[in-house]
Amino acid sequence: GAPYMHKNACNTHNSISSSTVNSMERTGTATAHTNIALIKYWGKKDEALRLPFTDSISLTLADFYTTTEVTVLDSALPKRFTMNGSPVQGKAADRVWQYIARLQQRFGVRGSLAITTENHVPTSAGLASSSSAFAALAGAFAAAYGLQVDMQELSRMARLGSGSASRSVYGGFARWIAGSDDATSVAVPIDEHPSFALRMIAVQIDVKPKAISSTAGMRRVVETSPYFPVWVEHNVDACERMQQAIADSDFTTLGELAQQNALDMHALNLTARPGFTYFEPQTLQVLQAVDQLRQEGVECYYTMDAGPNVKVLVQPEHEAAVLERLAVVVPDATMLSTGVGPGITMSANGVPVS
Ligand code: DP6
Repeated sequence: GAPYMHKNACNTHNSISSSTVNSMERTGTATAHTNIALIKYWGKKDEALRLPFTDSISLTLADFYTTTEVTVLDSALPKRFTMNGSPVQGKAADRVWQYIARLQQRFGVRGSLAITTENHVPTSAGLASSSSAFAALAGAFAAAYGLQVDMQELSRMARLGSGSASRSVYGGFARWIAGSDDATSVAVPIDEHPSFALRMIAVQIDVKPKAISSTAGMRRVVETSPYFPVWVEHNVDACERMQQAIADSDFTTLGELAQQNALDMHALNLTARPGFTYFEPQTLQVLQAVDQLRQEGVECYYTMDAGPNVKVLVQPEHEAAVLERLAVVVPDATMLSTGVGPGITMSANGVPVS
């Protein structure tokens, strides 16, 4: 927010004496929302380009998002990266700087960057913060350099940072087309403003960092699971059916497909060599409670990503009943509920970029 912009402006003044350099500086800002995959991306056929084996379909969320500011500095100045007010170093920073180097090479631009990120997402807790993080970073980068990129190019840029980020440039429902190379592997909007009201309750079982990152987990599955080809074959059909359910505003089919796809993905992890799971004991309690609620006529479905948390899909009329039950089943869990979120927004030197 504003305090950061102020701080950066002061730092810049302190460290640069030449006003010429200052006038060349450009700041790009972008806000991107996280998305939850209803049909999952789980496996790359090309690690370097982040090309997935299958299409995937997601829902962008309203209340979990990342705002990132990128300022292009003179190349002689040190680069810096802060997240939620603290400097970032180590593996997380390396991944970001490698990504920036790649984008700079792709667009033939240079300069040292000051990156400031505000993450309004519980990190490393299975809420796929990398989806909003890399979409926001791609957008802020494009805005800072004044690049003429359309939504598809922005999606490609985001994909190079994290696969799921390709879908976060769009609001509502999006589909990442697997494609066969960098140009064709890109997300497209399905329905950015769905007419049916959908809520998602994130049940935070455990906020300790995940044991196996999504990158490492899916790699192990691709390399070692004898069942991986079955997953690939099945997901092709699952995507077609999910897209139809969205077109029909058919919550029941959407929920059933999403829940089964999450089970398929988590079953696949057990079949890796060695097998692994993101489930914690409380995870299973939530899954059982959701199934029980549905049997009682409270229609809701679950999905899960690379962590122990559960996301429950529900229509507004049943949200309170689900929250009430889960508060009894997992009293220690934090629950956050949200709705359908918008696509990326960007600005350059404070002026909105369309
Ligand atoms: C389970 O996008 O985090 O959330 O491309 O290696 O950064 P990398 O993976 P990432 O994987 C997300 C996996 C998932 C399913 C999904 O979002 O489709």
